[in-house]
Amino acid sequence: MDVSEAIQKRVTIRRWKPVPVEKEKILKVLEAGRRAPSWGNVQPWRYVVIQDKAKIEELAKSAGGQPQIMTAPVMIVCCGLMEAFSRKMHRESLKQLIDVGVMDWPDELLDNVILESDLFAPYRLGEQAMRIKASEQIMISIAYMTLEAFNHGLGSCWAGAISPKDVHKSLNLPDSLFVHDFFLLGYPDETPKPRPRKSLSEIAFWEKYQD
Ligand SMILES: Cc1cc2nc3c(=O)[nH]c(=O)nc-3n(C[C@H](O)[C@H](O)[C@H](O)COP(=O)(O)O)c2cc1C
Repeated sequence: MDVSEAIQKRVTIRRWKPVPVEKEKILKVLEAGRRAPSWGNVQPWRYVVIQDKAKIEELAKSAGGQPQIMTAPVMIVCCGLMEAFSRKMHRESLKQLIDVGVMDWPDELLDNVILESDLFAPYRLGEQAMRIKASEQIMISIAYMTLEAFNHGLGSCWAGAISPKDVHKSLNLPDSLFVHDFFLLGYPDETPKPRPRKSLSEIAFWEKYQD
């Protein structure tokens, strides 16, 4: 499918056919998430795929029991690596880019300028900044997955209204991970019309912004 077509036609699905999703398709969706771009190529996303119905129902309670979550055939619990933007891990990712020739930064520049800069190194702004930065990257990866799911005839629903602490506990996740949100997959049992969007003239401006 053409990428533009997927972008224009994808809608959030909240009713699912009660049929399982093939593992190959789930893998294709995850693969799309893997290919997403990220700041410094840190790739902070980690995904836990849940297909066990009882577990999905248990986890759905952390999302106020939203029915589209309760009944989803596949739940991908989208997590982030706390330390992705730590000095050490950010440096490792940048080093990999340097090694493949994306930048030609000598160690001195990397260590004394880039990683000492509030602009380029989120760890310098504290834990909250690191986590926000990681969350931003995870959302790009999930956006890729929404399009790939659609490309394979699957519906998807993003669920951000969840209690991350409850999910963390229920999945017995390590402290090194934080829970970001759920990404649900399944065969659509509805064909919703495209949801409203602001007009282009409300959101895009040429040369200067106008109120
Ligand atoms: C970060 C994020 C969190 C969302 N959380 C929920 C949610 O908790 N429950 C839900 O039903 N939909 C959720 N959605 C889906 C949005 O409501 C939906 O994308 C929006 O209304 C536009 O509709 P569309 O995706 O069909 O174009 C979420 C979407 C995003 C991007």
